[in-house]
Amino acid sequence: MQGSANLNVMIKAARKAGRSLVKDFREVENLQVSAKGPGDFVSKADREAERIIREELLGARPTYGFLGEEGGEASGADPTRRWIVDPLDGTTNFLHGIPHWAVSIALEHKGEITSAVVYDAAKDELYWAEKGAGAWMNDKRLRVSGRRNLHEALFATGIPFGAKPGLPAVVQDLARLMPACAGVRRLGSASLDLAWVAAGRYDGFWERGNQIWDIAAGILLAKEAGGLLSGIRDGQDILESGSVICANEPLFEPFRKIIRGN
Ligand code: IPD
Ligand code: CA
Ligand code: CA
Repeated sequence: MQGSANLNVMIKAARKAGRSLVKDFREVENLQVSAKGPGDFVSKADREAERIIREELLGARPTYGFLGEEGGEASGADPTRRWIVDPLDGTTNFLHGIPHWAVSIALEHKGEITSAVVYDAAKDELYWAEKGAGAWMNDKRLRVSGRRNLHEALFATGIPFGAKPGLPAVVQDLARLMPACAGVRRLGSASLDLAWVAAGRYDGFWERGNQIWDIAAGILLAKEAGGLLSGIRDGQDILESGSVICANEPLFEPFRKIIRGN
């Protein structure tokens, strides 16, 4: 499957940043044993990955806007298009030497996500999607899972940590959902959670309080693989609210009903 010229720019940027992060990740494994820990080093790796991505994307498309988690927003001469970038999604995993993190790049056109790349560099799994062209991992077409029974389904979520609000809501979700399903995972990278729904590894995912760069690319992957998606509450826009629930078609309504608690 051949992607668009924009997609090729995104893939090149994600792979280049991924190479830099993989090199730094090896170093993190050594720094675990030092008293200071790898915190500052990881912040630098994160910022360097965003610098690489920004240079590649804006070098190829100088008129597009750019929103990156580390460097913030820069508007472009073309107000209808912007890149939305999380250079390292799964920072806590990266910091602890856990190989589950990704580079996430989305292209937004007139408020809609049209191309997406999520690159799991540690496993060399490159997930990509384009509006109307399906979702792919490397050269394999992706489909959401075919499971129909909640009690066989495996879900993923994000659990707020530190001073983030929203913990009681997730605890209540888990109390309702866990007795009804096969399990819930919290692996720590929202972009990969959505990519794994697209790949049929998870049957569904939900999380509140995401930033746009955590989920912009992942939601297109899940949608193009045949997943259904919405905000968690009625009428909530996913990208505006940061709230998302997603599953294959047979499980979407029963799963959403449990998460909504009605
Ligand atoms: C985080 C991850 C995590 C999600 C958090 C995000 P970061 O992104 O996506 O899975 O639960 O809300 O902040 O900080 O690793 O880029
Ligand atoms: Ca993130
Ligand atoms: Ca990040």
